Amino acid sequence: MSIIDKQTLADVTIREACPDDAAALLGFFLRMEEKFDLLYEPGERARDSAPVRHQLGEFSERTNCLFIVALKASEIVGFLSIEGGRQRRRERAGYLIMSVREDCHGQGIGRALLQSASEWAVRTGMIRVELVVLDSNPRARHLYEKMGFIAEGHLRDYLVIRDQPSDAVLMAKYFRSAAAQTTDSSHGN
Ligand SMILES: CC(C)(COP(=O)(O)OP(=O)(O)OC[C@H]1O[C@@H](n2cnc3c(N)ncnc32)[C@H](O)[C@@H]1OP(=O)(O)O)[C@@H](O)C(=O)NCCC(=O)NCCS
Repeated sequence: MSIIDKQTLADVTIREACPDDAAALLGFFLRMEEKFDLLYEPGERARDSAPVRHQLGEFSERTNCLFIVALKASEIVGFLSIEGGRQRRRERAGYLIMSVREDCHGQGIGRALLQSASEWAVRTGMIRVELVVLDSNPRARHLYEKMGFIAEGHLRDYLVIRDQPSDAVLMAKYFRSAAAQTTDSSHGN
């Protein structure tokens, strides 16, 4: 079970998601997929919260997975997930996805989600968190760079969006030195 510190950003609360968030999260995903170019096309995802519930249950049991939500007046306005690798040699690396509801952009919610995720990564001993961002999404790329992600490579024709092959960038943030510092200071005490 992964534990996340609660963070408050004015009227926003960030907490770990639980299986009972599944229906609200499904609604959030469907809304975001209508408005932005994400992995699923609008209308492609099943309108069934059971797979989301299953994922939330599984992530809360796997120590190298994280699923957090940002809430405003009890409504989900953002989420971030990290899926850690299943093989032992990949278990300290994770793949991140996130989004924030369009009427809440520019309020620092994306930044707060990434901050919580970085703190979680250090606490749990993850050494690498990676993500893929489309070239057509400079806003997200700017935020990731600001939060310490580094571009590792260009992914040509990564997605086909409205019949157009679209390029993307693979980015990663490394936590090995932070994890080592945590271990060093805990040994020193
Ligand atoms: C990317 C996303 C998560 C950012 O969330 P957010 O809550 O708006 O982020 P923040 O408010 O913390 O920060 C946004 C930053 O982007 C900057 N920004 C805004 N528009 C921009 C643009 N067109 N180009 C570059 N930077 C931009 C803001 O100025 C801010 O940076 P600053 O703090 O240096 O001023 C959000 O826009 C989103 O969910 N988009 C739709 C889904 C998506 O793209 N998900 C990511 C897929 S990889």
